[in-house]
Amino acid sequence: MTDSRDVASRSPAMKDTDQRSRNRGFFVSFEGAESSGKSTQTALLVAWLREQGFGVLQTREPGGTSVGEGVRDILLAHASKMSAQTEALLFASARTELVDSVILPALCEGKVVVCDRYIDSSLAYQGYGLGLPIEEILAVNRWAVCRAMPDVTILLGHGRELAASGTVEGPDRIESRGGDFHRRVRMGYLQIASRDRNRVVVVDTSPGIEATAKEIRSIIARRLRAKIGYDQSTE
Ligand code: TYD
Repeated sequence: MTDSRDVASRSPAMKDTDQRSRNRGFFVSFEGAESSGKSTQTALLVAWLREQGFGVLQTREPGGTSVGEGVRDILLAHASKMSAQTEALLFASARTELVDSVILPALCEGKVVVCDRYIDSSLAYQGYGLGLPIEEILAVNRWAVCRAMPDVTILLGHGRELAASGTVEGPDRIESRGGDFHRRVRMGYLQIASRDRNRVVVVDTSPGIEATAKEIRSIIARRLRAKIGYDQSTE
Protein backbone atom coordinates (compact mmCIF):
# COMPACT_ATOMS: atom_id res chain seq x y z
CA MET A 1 0.00 0.00 0.00
CA THR A 2 2.77 2.42 0.93
CA ASP A 3 6.50 2.67 0.50
CA SER A 4 8.08 3.31 3.87
CA ARG A 5 11.45 4.36 2.49
CA ASP A 6 9.90 7.42 0.87
CA VAL A 7 8.12 8.45 4.03
CA ALA A 8 11.11 7.88 6.25
CA SER A 9 13.28 10.05 4.08
CA ARG A 10 10.72 12.83 3.89
CA SER A 11 9.15 12.93 7.30
CA PRO A 12 11.37 12.78 10.38
CA ALA A 13 8.37 11.76 12.47
CA MET A 14 8.05 8.57 10.46
CA LYS A 15 11.73 7.56 10.52
CA ASP A 16 11.43 4.79 13.09
CA THR A 17 8.21 3.49 11.73
CA ASP A 18 8.17 -0.18 10.93
CA GLN A 19 6.99 -0.70 7.39
CA ARG A 20 4.59 -3.38 8.58
CA SER A 21 2.95 -1.04 11.06
CA ARG A 22 1.80 1.24 8.24
CA ASN A 23 0.25 -1.73 6.59
CA ARG A 24 -1.81 -2.54 9.68
CA GLY A 25 -4.33 0.13 8.79
CA PHE A 26 -6.91 0.17 6.02
CA PHE A 27 -7.45 3.14 3.71
CA VAL A 28 -10.77 3.89 1.98
CA SER A 29 -11.39 6.91 -0.24
CA PHE A 30 -14.71 8.12 -1.60
CA GLU A 31 -14.93 9.81 -4.98
CA GLY A 32 -17.67 11.19 -7.19
CA ALA A 33 -18.89 14.25 -9.00
CA GLU A 34 -20.84 17.04 -7.29
CA SER A 35 -24.05 15.86 -5.58
CA SER A 36 -23.11 12.20 -5.85
CA GLY A 37 -24.01 11.51 -2.21
CA LYS A 38 -20.42 11.17 -0.98
CA SER A 39 -20.95 12.93 2.34
CA THR A 40 -23.99 10.81 3.23
CA GLN A 41 -22.33 7.55 2.27
CA THR A 42 -19.06 8.47 3.99
CA ALA A 43 -20.92 9.18 7.23
CA LEU A 44 -22.93 5.93 7.01
CA LEU A 45 -19.83 3.83 6.39
CA VAL A 46 -17.92 5.49 9.23
CA ALA A 47 -20.84 4.87 11.63
CA TRP A 48 -21.00 1.20 10.60
CA LEU A 49 -17.23 0.70 10.95
CA ARG A 50 -17.35 2.20 14.45
CA GLU A 51 -20.25 -0.11 15.37
CA GLN A 52 -18.06 -3.01 14.27
CA GLY A 53 -15.42 -1.85 16.74
CA PHE A 54 -12.88 -0.40 14.31
CA GLY A 55 -10.87 2.68 15.22
CA VAL A 56 -11.79 5.06 12.40
CA LEU A 57 -10.29 8.29 11.22
CA GLN A 58 -12.62 10.32 9.01
CA THR A 59 -11.18 13.14 6.97
CA ARG A 60 -11.73 15.10 3.78
CA GLU A 61 -9.98 16.85 0.95
CA PRO A 62 -9.09 19.55 0.49
CA GLY A 63 -8.77 20.14 4.22
CA GLY A 64 -8.36 17.93 7.24
CA THR A 65 -5.44 19.95 8.67
CA SER A 66 -5.14 23.64 9.53
CA VAL A 67 -2.88 24.20 6.50
CA GLY A 68 -5.26 22.17 4.33
CA GLU A 69 -8.31 24.14 5.48
CA GLY A 70 -6.47 27.37 4.64
CA VAL A 71 -5.61 26.05 1.18
CA ARG A 72 -9.24 24.91 0.80
CA ASP A 73 -10.47 28.47 1.45
CA ILE A 74 -8.15 29.79 -1.27
CA LEU A 75 -9.10 27.06 -3.73
CA LEU A 76 -12.86 27.41 -3.34
CA ALA A 77 -13.11 31.23 -3.08
CA HIS A 78 -14.62 32.91 -6.13
CA ALA A 79 -12.06 35.71 -5.77
CA SER A 80 -9.12 33.31 -6.33
CA LYS A 81 -7.85 33.65 -9.87
CA MET A 82 -5.18 31.08 -10.67
CA SER A 83 -3.84 28.89 -13.45
CA ALA A 84 -4.83 25.23 -13.73
CA GLN A 85 -1.28 24.27 -12.76
CA THR A 86 -1.37 26.40 -9.61
CA GLU A 87 -4.70 24.84 -8.73
CA ALA A 88 -3.32 21.30 -9.17
CA LEU A 89 -0.27 22.10 -7.04
CA LEU A 90 -2.37 23.64 -4.27
CA PHE A 91 -4.56 20.52 -4.10
CA ALA A 92 -1.40 18.40 -4.02
CA SER A 93 0.17 20.50 -1.25
CA ALA A 94 -2.92 20.21 0.95
CA ARG A 95 -2.83 16.46 0.27
CA THR A 96 0.82 16.15 1.35
CA GLU A 97 0.06 17.83 4.66
CA LEU A 98 -2.91 15.54 5.24
CA VAL A 99 -0.96 12.38 4.39
CA ASP A 100 2.06 13.23 6.53
CA SER A 101 0.30 14.52 9.59
CA VAL A 102 -3.01 12.65 9.64
CA ILE A 103 -3.37 9.69 7.28
CA LEU A 104 -0.05 7.87 7.71
CA PRO A 105 0.01 8.18 11.52
CA ALA A 106 -3.54 6.79 11.67
CA LEU A 107 -2.64 3.88 9.38
CA CYS A 108 0.37 3.14 11.58
CA GLU A 109 -1.98 2.94 14.56
CA GLY A 110 -3.99 0.32 12.68
CA LYS A 111 -7.00 2.56 12.08
CA VAL A 112 -9.40 2.53 9.17
CA VAL A 113 -8.97 5.85 7.38
CA VAL A 114 -12.00 7.09 5.43
CA CYS A 115 -11.21 10.08 3.22
CA ASP A 116 -13.80 12.09 1.29
CA ARG A 117 -11.89 12.71 -1.99
CA TYR A 118 -8.22 11.94 -2.64
CA ILE A 119 -5.83 11.70 -5.57
CA ASP A 120 -8.51 10.67 -8.10
CA SER A 121 -10.25 14.04 -7.60
CA SER A 122 -7.14 15.75 -8.96
CA LEU A 123 -7.02 13.37 -11.92
CA ALA A 124 -10.73 13.89 -12.64
CA TYR A 125 -11.02 17.66 -12.02
CA GLN A 126 -7.61 19.11 -12.89
CA GLY A 127 -6.72 16.35 -15.37
CA TYR A 128 -9.82 15.37 -17.30
CA GLY A 129 -11.79 18.50 -16.33
CA LEU A 130 -9.21 21.24 -16.90
CA GLY A 131 -7.11 19.32 -19.43
CA LEU A 132 -3.79 19.07 -17.57
CA PRO A 133 -1.74 16.02 -18.61
CA ILE A 134 -2.83 13.02 -16.53
CA GLU A 135 0.69 11.59 -16.28
CA GLU A 136 2.01 14.88 -14.88
CA ILE A 137 -0.71 15.08 -12.25
CA LEU A 138 0.02 11.49 -11.33
CA ALA A 139 3.75 12.21 -11.03
CA VAL A 140 3.24 15.26 -8.80
CA ASN A 141 0.76 13.38 -6.64
CA ARG A 142 2.89 10.27 -6.30
CA TRP A 143 5.51 12.53 -4.77
CA ALA A 144 2.89 14.33 -2.71
CA VAL A 145 1.49 11.20 -1.09
CA CYS A 146 4.58 8.97 -0.82
CA ARG A 147 2.62 6.28 -2.62
CA ALA A 148 0.07 6.12 0.18
CA MET A 149 -2.71 4.84 -2.02
CA PRO A 150 -6.13 3.73 -0.80
CA ASP A 151 -6.76 0.00 -0.37
CA VAL A 152 -10.09 0.67 -2.02
CA THR A 153 -11.79 3.66 -3.62
CA ILE A 154 -15.57 3.87 -3.78
CA LEU A 155 -16.62 5.86 -6.84
CA LEU A 156 -20.25 6.93 -6.51
CA GLY A 157 -22.34 7.52 -9.58
CA HIS A 158 -25.95 7.65 -10.54
CA GLY A 159 -27.63 5.68 -13.27
CA ARG A 160 -26.39 5.39 -16.82
CA GLU A 161 -24.16 8.44 -16.88
CA LEU A 162 -22.06 8.53 -13.77
CA ALA A 163 -23.47 11.14 -11.38
CA ALA A 164 -25.78 12.83 -13.87
CA SER A 165 -25.36 16.48 -12.99
CA GLY A 166 -27.04 17.37 -9.75
CA THR A 167 -27.86 20.95 -8.82
CA VAL A 168 -25.64 22.52 -6.20
CA GLU A 169 -26.80 25.23 -3.86
CA GLY A 170 -24.46 28.23 -3.39
CA PRO A 171 -21.82 26.78 -5.71
CA ASP A 172 -18.14 27.45 -4.93
CA ARG A 173 -15.51 28.41 -7.53
CA ILE A 174 -15.06 24.86 -8.84
CA GLU A 175 -18.73 23.87 -8.67
CA SER A 176 -19.56 26.98 -10.73
CA ARG A 177 -17.65 25.73 -13.76
CA GLY A 178 -19.90 24.89 -16.67
CA GLY A 179 -21.70 21.70 -17.62
CA ASP A 180 -18.97 20.67 -20.09
CA PHE A 181 -16.37 20.76 -17.33
CA HIS A 182 -18.48 18.58 -15.05
CA ARG A 183 -19.25 16.18 -17.90
CA ARG A 184 -15.52 15.76 -18.52
CA VAL A 185 -15.02 15.15 -14.79
CA ARG A 186 -17.66 12.41 -14.76
CA MET A 187 -16.25 10.76 -17.87
CA GLY A 188 -12.76 11.12 -16.40
CA TYR A 189 -13.82 9.22 -13.31
CA LEU A 190 -15.00 6.35 -15.49
CA GLN A 191 -11.61 6.29 -17.24
CA ILE A 192 -9.85 6.23 -13.88
CA ALA A 193 -12.04 3.32 -12.75
CA SER A 194 -11.36 1.38 -15.92
CA ARG A 195 -7.61 1.92 -15.58
CA ASP A 196 -7.50 0.71 -11.98
CA ARG A 197 -10.27 -1.87 -11.57
CA ASN A 198 -8.60 -3.51 -8.64
CA ARG A 199 -8.69 -0.41 -6.47
CA VAL A 200 -11.63 1.63 -7.79
CA VAL A 201 -15.12 0.17 -7.38
CA VAL A 202 -17.99 1.99 -9.08
CA VAL A 203 -21.18 2.00 -7.02
CA ASP A 204 -24.48 3.05 -8.58
CA THR A 205 -26.46 5.18 -6.14
CA SER A 206 -29.76 4.97 -8.03
CA PRO A 207 -31.18 2.16 -5.81
CA GLY A 208 -31.31 4.69 -2.95
CA ILE A 209 -29.35 5.63 0.14
CA GLU A 210 -29.89 2.46 2.21
CA ALA A 211 -29.29 0.01 -0.64
CA THR A 212 -26.17 1.91 -1.65
CA ALA A 213 -24.88 1.92 1.91
CA LYS A 214 -25.41 -1.84 2.12
CA GLU A 215 -23.54 -2.40 -1.12
CA ILE A 216 -20.64 -0.28 0.14
CA ARG A 217 -20.55 -2.17 3.45
CA SER A 218 -20.31 -5.46 1.64
CA ILE A 219 -17.46 -4.19 -0.59
CA ILE A 220 -15.54 -2.90 2.42
CA ALA A 221 -16.18 -6.06 4.46
CA ARG A 222 -14.88 -8.16 1.57
CA ARG A 223 -11.70 -6.09 1.31
CA LEU A 224 -11.20 -6.11 5.08
CA ARG A 225 -11.62 -9.88 5.07
CA ALA A 226 -8.97 -10.19 2.37
CA LYS A 227 -6.56 -7.91 4.24
CA ILE A 228 -7.06 -8.65 7.92
CA GLY A 229 -9.32 -11.68 8.07
CA TYR A 230 -12.32 -9.65 9.29
CA ASP A 231 -15.59 -11.59 9.08
CA GLN A 232 -18.91 -10.00 9.98
CA SER A 233 -22.44 -9.61 8.65
CA THR A 234 -23.03 -6.40 6.69
CA GLU A 235 -26.83 -6.35 7.16
P1 TYD B 1 -16.41 20.31 -1.45
O1 TYD B 1 -17.28 21.41 -0.95
O2 TYD B 1 -15.68 19.48 -0.45
O3 TYD B 1 -17.23 19.46 -2.48
P2 TYD B 1 -17.73 17.99 -2.47
O4 TYD B 1 -18.80 17.92 -1.41
O5 TYD B 1 -18.24 17.82 -3.87
O6 TYD B 1 -16.54 17.10 -2.17
O7 TYD B 1 -15.38 21.00 -2.45
C1 TYD B 1 -14.30 20.36 -2.96
C2 TYD B 1 -14.19 20.78 -4.41
O8 TYD B 1 -12.84 20.66 -4.81
C3 TYD B 1 -15.02 19.91 -5.33
O9 TYD B 1 -15.62 20.73 -6.32
C4 TYD B 1 -13.98 19.03 -5.99
C5 TYD B 1 -12.75 19.88 -5.99
N1 TYD B 1 -11.48 19.15 -5.97
C6 TYD B 1 -10.63 19.24 -7.06
O10 TYD B 1 -10.95 19.92 -8.05
N2 TYD B 1 -9.43 18.59 -7.03
C7 TYD B 1 -9.03 17.85 -5.95
O11 TYD B 1 -7.93 17.26 -5.97
C8 TYD B 1 -9.92 17.77 -4.83
C9 TYD B 1 -9.52 16.98 -3.60
C10 TYD B 1 -11.13 18.43 -4.87
